[in-house]
Amino acid sequence: MLKRLSIAVAGGLLLVSAVAGCGGDSDAGSGSGSSGGDDKITLGFSQVGAESGWRTANTKSIQDSAASSGIDLKFSDAQGKQENQIKAIRNFITQRVDVIAFSPVVESGWGTVLKEAKDANIPVILTDRAIDDPDTTLYKSFIGSDFVEEGKKAGEWLVKEYEGKTDTVNIVELQGSPGAAPANDRKSGFADVIKSEPKFKVVASQTGQFTRTDGKAVMETFLKSQPDIDVLYAHNDDMGLGAIEAIEAAGKKPGTDIKIITVDAVKDGMTALADGKINFIVECSPLLGPQLMDLVKKAKAGETIPQRVLTEETTFTPEQAKEALPSRKY
Ligand code: AHR
Repeated sequence: MLKRLSIAVAGGLLLVSAVAGCGGDSDAGSGSGSSGGDDKITLGFSQVGAESGWRTANTKSIQDSAASSGIDLKFSDAQGKQENQIKAIRNFITQRVDVIAFSPVVESGWGTVLKEAKDANIPVILTDRAIDDPDTTLYKSFIGSDFVEEGKKAGEWLVKEYEGKTDTVNIVELQGSPGAAPANDRKSGFADVIKSEPKFKVVASQTGQFTRTDGKAVMETFLKSQPDIDVLYAHNDDMGLGAIEAIEAAGKKPGTDIKIITVDAVKDGMTALADGKINFIVECSPLLGPQLMDLVKKAKAGETIPQRVLTEETTFTPEQAKEALPSRKY
């Protein structure tokens, strides 16, 4: 919360449409580690990992956009570990890259390494996920979604779906990776909305690490320990898709016996939504590459850039998923 307030107060806020984000994506190669001429901007980027369909689309967007913008991208995969990201950022500082960008695995613990980047005069841009540090001078900009808002949208759909009903609604929740901004914020946004109605009860809530495998395994344990599950809220599509496999294996019908809400709206999730196996998806756009490259060029040129660039996103019902799927880019 602190980080959001300080971001809003400290800098201008720019709203960028998710659809506009697709425009600059090219079919060019990975863009990773290409050697550039002297005047080429060098961007060091540390990615979270490859845990989900969302992440794969995000990596592609960044690599393609760097290639089409003529930016020399030094790409590093942290494999879900903060220590790997800190190592990568220190390497980027040693290599004297022009700009550093990263999507933080977790929210806390970035002060020391970002101070090192600041002392080396290398601008830092946060992408996708925020950090929980009150010192907003540690980075130039943060581009990404409002995860609290995403959780709220999930809760609002649920409230509407059960409007006028008085029976208890038993909810199980598959959380994202512990400590990650989208896990913390999607949980709190959802909880804030449903707390106004005591009929909603979160009977089990556990991490599924944002992966299909863990989503399936944790849903299996939920199904064994909870005799009467009405709703599954999964913090991303992949965990929801894994859970669908567990629900079907238990002889239940996903979307009917257990209502399912997820976040992301990647193609596989949207297909399950169109098929009636998921009931509602809150969109989170991974297509951050074009705006990131624009910010990188401006940061390198010493121009003032907005401290918060917010991606504009929507929600999908099964009918809307059927309409959107043919032109879905990820
Ligand atoms: O930070 C964005 C989240 O990370 C996506 O919603 C999830 O799928 C990913 O792993």
